[in-house]
Amino acid sequence: MEKSVFPKKFNGNIQLHYDILKKELERVDGKKVLELATGSGNAVNFLNKNNQYTGIDISPGLLRKACQRFRNNGFQNAEFFLTGAEDLPFQDGMFDIVICHLSLNFFSNIEKAILESTRVSKEYAIFFGSVPIPERKSNDAIIRGKLFSKEELKNIFEKFGWEFDSLPEINGALLYFKAEKRKQQSS
Ligand SMILES: C[S@@+](CC[C@H](N)C(=O)[O-])C[C@H]1O[C@@H](n2cnc3c(N)ncnc32)[C@H](O)[C@@H]1O
Repeated sequence: MEKSVFPKKFNGNIQLHYDILKKELERVDGKKVLELATGSGNAVNFLNKNNQYTGIDISPGLLRKACQRFRNNGFQNAEFFLTGAEDLPFQDGMFDIVICHLSLNFFSNIEKAILESTRVSKEYAIFFGSVPIPERKSNDAIIRGKLFSKEELKNIFEKFGWEFDSLPEINGALLYFKAEKRKQQSS
């Protein structure tokens, strides 16, 4: 994610974005964190380095950048996997928290990605995301991928047993949300 495209695309402020993510994640420490769509590793801007971080993405080039940035930023415990969010190479019930920023709109099958997140996360895990939604998008913004409304996102998460809450923060087209995994899904 280039800093320069953020205001134009999302009609929002990138520093505010990181401030929101930092505030939500500052107490997450020593946890097993899975990030869907790591990109170039922007999570170093808001994630505590004492977490056990696992990042996945479909872009080998971005993952290489992310790996370097995590190393340069003192993350001792970070690993990266080249894979789609729809098919995660992890065992059931591994992660305390799943994060996904600015990416749900790109997934080829969002339901499969949330189902997989449900499978690999622990009971009462938290999913913390930010995503552009159509009802907040300005007319001239070009946002690629498939956009889901707040209601649609809530329905998808609830279908897989997550309690979904949107956060009050407003930053252009973005919706910030948290979901808590309530029920163990049978596979
Ligand atoms: C706009 S970038 C966001 C990257 C990062 N989360 C951030 O906030 O900077 C979108 C990312 O989604 C990744 N992506 C697209 N489809 C994906 C999929 N099916 N599974 C995993 N990652 C995917 C892209 O490779 C890209 O890194």
